[in-house]
Amino acid sequence: MIKRTIVIDTDPGQDDAVAMLLALASPGELEVAAITAVAGNVPLERTFDNARRLVELAGRPEVPVYAGAPRPMFRDLITAEYVHGDTGIDGAVLPEPVVPALDDDAVDVIIDLLRERPPGTVTLCPLGPLTNVAQVMVRAPDVVDRIQEIVLMGGAFYEGGNTTPVAEFNILVDPHAADIVMRSGAPVVMMPLDVTHRALVLPRHLERFAAMGTPVGDAVHGMLDFYQRYDVEKYGIAGVPLHDPCVIAYLLEPSLFSGRHCNVTIETGSPITMGMTVVDWWGMTDREPNCFYMRDVDSDGFFDLLADRIGRL
Ligand code: BDR
Ligand code: CA
Repeated sequence: MIKRTIVIDTDPGQDDAVAMLLALASPGELEVAAITAVAGNVPLERTFDNARRLVELAGRPEVPVYAGAPRPMFRDLITAEYVHGDTGIDGAVLPEPVVPALDDDAVDVIIDLLRERPPGTVTLCPLGPLTNVAQVMVRAPDVVDRIQEIVLMGGAFYEGGNTTPVAEFNILVDPHAADIVMRSGAPVVMMPLDVTHRALVLPRHLERFAAMGTPVGDAVHGMLDFYQRYDVEKYGIAGVPLHDPCVIAYLLEPSLFSGRHCNVTIETGSPITMGMTVVDWWGMTDREPNCFYMRDVDSDGFFDLLADRIGRL
């Protein structure tokens, strides 16, 4: 497998945290060139702080973390402490970060990286609202063609929404940013709820993290134990969907996932369906396919990969 250079754009978030750990545990396949924080699950100050705590937990303090947009492009910020707790990563107690808070703006950092590296060699991995990525495209349209791929967690269609009846959280928080990304022409792979709701961590999986007997295993166990409560009660399912780790798992083992090329259009007008990802799965319009939309995952294979890599940290 050719090693990929990635930027993780994230709003940790327990599932973001597990995604980051999965990537940081995989240096043979992934060069994490930067981690960029965005406002989403909790405000930017916390997502930035959490991201720094997590690179230290992973034993990778050299991976630079930058702060990006504190709010969506045009709408007020919606956060989700009711899911993630006040810190965003409740369930883990991680020490204050030692790495200094870098001043550089995350959007400028992504632009510079895309200009410095050869075209088509940097993959963006957005795990939160798409504000930072859309700002990159607005501020520096010349870099859009240099993006290798955008592999993002967001959207929902067959599964319905998780924040409104039709909208998934990341897209709803900044639908205008999502619209810019989906119209950009950059190659997009989308991991919507339709697939992430099949990537459940069950009680037996949780035990495997606890049994690792490592600080990382304990932190992952604690975070997922907290994080599962909301979804187990809401959906009446046995485990918690691991949304964001699907993005990293796809980069490591794409054959775990299946979907198809189709058009996805973002609703930005209607107050009732704001943030809906309208998926033309059956090709019923003449809108050009603009992403690879995932629908299924080999959940056992996904979990084996995750446990194996987390166990390496
Ligand atoms: C997405 O929203 C957040 O709560 C999660 O971190 C994930 O990125 C799921 O809708
Ligand atoms: Ca997230």
